[in-house]
Amino acid sequence: MTYHQQFSSVAWQQQPAGPVVRLIDQTLLPAQTVYLDCTEPEQVRQAIRDLAVRGAPAIGVAAAYGIAQELALTCAGGDSGQFDRELAKSCQAFAGTRPTAINLFWAIDRMREQGLRSQGQTVAERIAGLEREAVAIHRDDIASCLAIGAHGAPLMPDRGSVLTHCNTGGLATGGHGTALGVIRSAIAAGKQLHVWVDETRPLLQGARLTAWECMQDSIPATLITDNMAGHVMKLGKVQAAIVGADRIALNGDSANKIGTYTVAVLCAHHGIPFYVAAPTSTIDLDCPNGEAIPIEERKPTEVTEPQGVRFAPLGMAVFNPAFDVAPGHLIAGIITEEGVARPPFTADLQAMVARAKQRRDRVRDGQ
Ligand code: MRU
Repeated sequence: MTYHQQFSSVAWQQQPAGPVVRLIDQTLLPAQTVYLDCTEPEQVRQAIRDLAVRGAPAIGVAAAYGIAQELALTCAGGDSGQFDRELAKSCQAFAGTRPTAINLFWAIDRMREQGLRSQGQTVAERIAGLEREAVAIHRDDIASCLAIGAHGAPLMPDRGSVLTHCNTGGLATGGHGTALGVIRSAIAAGKQLHVWVDETRPLLQGARLTAWECMQDSIPATLITDNMAGHVMKLGKVQAAIVGADRIALNGDSANKIGTYTVAVLCAHHGIPFYVAAPTSTIDLDCPNGEAIPIEERKPTEVTEPQGVRFAPLGMAVFNPAFDVAPGHLIAGIITEEGVARPPFTADLQAMVARAKQRRDRVRDGQ
């Protein structure tokens, strides 16, 4: 099977009227395929808050383009002092959009560092440098997805089923996906793999987005509600589970879409290997364990009124954490572009982050 990605979650376009950040509006999928052409950085920020662009790596790429756009719009014709002030403001504004996915802050840091490196250049060169860095962040993510796929494919069962949660495909990344990328790579390598797609309440990233991607690519897949996962495991119909991550702590604890913890516990109970697939940009070496990961809480209506249809009594109290943490001790392997980290994780994760940074530095320095 070949893999055809028909869409790009995030794109950068230089148009006569100025730079445009083009996003596929994921809130409308699968019913409508609508592109948001963001001509203003505030539109990009709102798209991140609203989950029109979502998924940890895609958020990072969108923020990088948004910062490049903001500096192009505010600083052309200005001086370097203004550039430094606007860059700091833009980075801070993007950092306030969503709290959990570390890829967002990683991309912002790369943009900030590029701004620092360019001190001494003309403002036009500094703006061009930010654009190049955003494109490099996007290109790196595409390459990371492919490498994650190559490292993860051998871990996938052949003639078996894998369960996944949330959406980790081309919509959630700049490339062909992380967990769904591993599935794509395994199928491309000739494995006969069927996917159980958790619907992923409350926002249905599985039912709306992963199901859509699987159907677009003819990946054999079956949709289940989240509370059916235990049953299909008990029936012996799941040979592995694979999910993405929004932030991986030093000890391997991995934050991902709410419901991931349940999948990890169910896998442990049934003796099913549970894998996490994510680029090294998702690893937070400053975070010792999952308890230190900030968990976003979103508005109650996401639970009481899914897709605008209210089915809980008005005024009902709601708790709506967007993520939970799969403890490292329940994870069989963390698949990154640098290879597969194995328990107890810490040394492997540190080495992978260091290798990835060295590789980027070498590319930047033209070695
Ligand atoms: O709230 P979302 O839809 O942005 O959450 C996304 C997830 O939890 C994904 O699993 C994670 O970002 C990995 S995407 C490759």
